[in-house]
Amino acid sequence: MAICCCYYTPANFRIPQSTQVSSADPRLRCNLSLPSRTPISLAEPDPICTSVKAFAPATVANLGPGFDFLGCAVDGLGDTVSISVDSKVHPGEISISNISGDNAKKLRKDPLWNCAGIAAIEVMKMLGIRSVGLSLSLEKGLPLGSGLGSSAASAAAAAVAVNGIFGNKLGVEELVLASLKSEEKVSGYHADNVAPAIMGGFVLIRSYEPLDLIPLKFPSEKDLFFVLVCPDFEAPTKKMRAALPTEIAMPHHVWNCSQAGALVASVLQGDLVGLGKALSSDKIVEPKRAPLIPGMEAVKKAALEAGAFGCTISGAGPTAVAVTDNEERGKEIGKHMVEAFFREGNLKACANVKQLDRVGARLINSTKH
Ligand code: HSE
Repeated sequence: MAICCCYYTPANFRIPQSTQVSSADPRLRCNLSLPSRTPISLAEPDPICTSVKAFAPATVANLGPGFDFLGCAVDGLGDTVSISVDSKVHPGEISISNISGDNAKKLRKDPLWNCAGIAAIEVMKMLGIRSVGLSLSLEKGLPLGSGLGSSAASAAAAAVAVNGIFGNKLGVEELVLASLKSEEKVSGYHADNVAPAIMGGFVLIRSYEPLDLIPLKFPSEKDLFFVLVCPDFEAPTKKMRAALPTEIAMPHHVWNCSQAGALVASVLQGDLVGLGKALSSDKIVEPKRAPLIPGMEAVKKAALEAGAFGCTISGAGPTAVAVTDNEERGKEIGKHMVEAFFREGNLKACANVKQLDRVGARLINSTKH
């Protein structure tokens, strides 16, 4: 077992007496990479199995007025990452052996330029892995640049898989920080996809420096269905972020803050009508992005006319997300939204009706030998 020295203090590693802090100490809550930290010697963990497989769900970021600070996970759609100990890979490194799925050819196998690879490397660094080489295989279940947190799902699944193979030493916030490195490189420093992809449910990002994440519990007895309508159109997050204003007017700030507050209250109360109303209310980001997605304004109108409680752009788009309380009604709403994309935007689209994923990224398989 090799010994390494690093700045991270995963909560379940034993901290030397002289550096122990109380659980109320913010250093234990989140941003564990403060440069002023005294390095702490950690034993490099051994792998506890030879391979693991992890799944991470799709996510809906922003939820209307919550640009970069609100998001939720949706079930049944996502990416899967398998990690194996591989003696052919240089110790301390990771190699991407395979990428499968419809868009596999568009993704790079260089781990430094692949979302799953970047997050996996970060987790290996946090754990101080030097003696073991890993190989990674990615099954892309989500379309690229779709607004469903495709890059976040790859990163989250990879982070959870690498953590899993070494015995789950890192906590949720460290996994979010590792996945954020990947988001930063490919689209921008925003955690509203990676945090819910890892934690499941609704998540509020209260601050980035230090990272402070607040899970918002949606009542389990309530039915909430997301109608996700994804057109055949790519909207790269970087481009969609470049379209945003650098300054906003005070009335818009006041309006969006009040709507984001209402959205949080509605989630906690399980008030679907309130949630839908707040989701539809963004006056800052959606008005700049919707015109860049052919047919989006008509799609929103069609969703609301078909009885959705609310509708907006999912993440940076082009997927449109509407909310309802009934699966059959969700399918009907989806049909109207697909028609509107075709009629007004000349875009083919497909609709999925999904529920909230309350679990987040998880290990789904492990092999000992
Ligand atoms: N908050 C990010 C954005 C999410 O809207 O740019 C991207 O999926």
